[in-house]
Amino acid sequence: MAPAAALLLVTLLFAVAPAPSLAKVFRVGDKQGWAPKVNYTTWAEQQQFHVGDWLNFVYQKDMYDMVQVQNETAYAACDASASIFNYSRGTNYAFELNRTGRFYFICSRGYCFDGMKVSVLVHPAALPPAVAPESHKSRAFSSRARAEAGAWLAALAASLGAAVLVSLPFPV
Ligand SMILES: *[C@@H]1O[C@H](CO)[C@@H](O)[C@H](O)[C@H]1NC(C)=O
Ligand SMILES: *[C@@H]1O[C@H](CO)[C@@H](O)[C@H](O)[C@H]1NC(C)=O
Ligand SMILES: *[C@@H]1O[C@H](CO)[C@@H](O)[C@H](O)[C@H]1NC(C)=O
Ligand SMILES: *[C@@H]1O[C@H](CO)[C@@H](O)[C@H](O)[C@H]1NC(C)=O
Repeated sequence: MAPAAALLLVTLLFAVAPAPSLAKVFRVGDKQGWAPKVNYTTWAEQQQFHVGDWLNFVYQKDMYDMVQVQNETAYAACDASASIFNYSRGTNYAFELNRTGRFYFICSRGYCFDGMKVSVLVHPAALPPAVAPESHKSRAFSSRARAEAGAWLAALAASLGAAVLVSLPFPV
């Protein structure tokens, strides 16, 4: 393939491909999982959370729960009385961070006082470079490139189609 054609193809693919998902799944507490006596403040400080990422709480079956609480006050007081959401079945729960801002989670079964709580600050979704805001100039270029690549691809498809027909061992 000629380099210019290859470049156009790449441009075309980037222009029409859906934005690649950069969502990450964070295992809360890494190897230590969701358990008492882990410093989740330290853990959370070492991560960057974005909208669309997931927190995977992995815990010992039938021992713990994860409860999302409303605010800093409830979080600080280990107060699960006005919880937003809670989960305690199985051995894990994956929670989607679907908005910006802070999320607070505690264990309601007493272990919160033993450090079993985590708060994360969620930033806007990280955009891949391909869909970063374009200048007018580059948008004009990319639509022209798209048109040219489209014509080139049509030609390629036509010649590939012809090649396939020619190489078939039986008449079609
Ligand atoms: C967790 O570690 C931070 C330092 O990263 C410290 O300031 C904090 O007091 C620790 N929290 C607990 C509950 O030990
Ligand atoms: C924090 O949430 C509790 C319920 O858990 C609510 O009663 C309280 O008013 C809230 N405080 C603030 C400062 O939003
Ligand atoms: C968990 O949620 C259920 C309802 O979905 C509620 O009955 C229960 O009291 C909640 N538990 C905690 C610890 O918040
Ligand atoms: C995030 O998810 C929760 C729980 O499903 C839902 O109640 C809330 O409306 C969602 N927020 C946004 C901004 O989509």
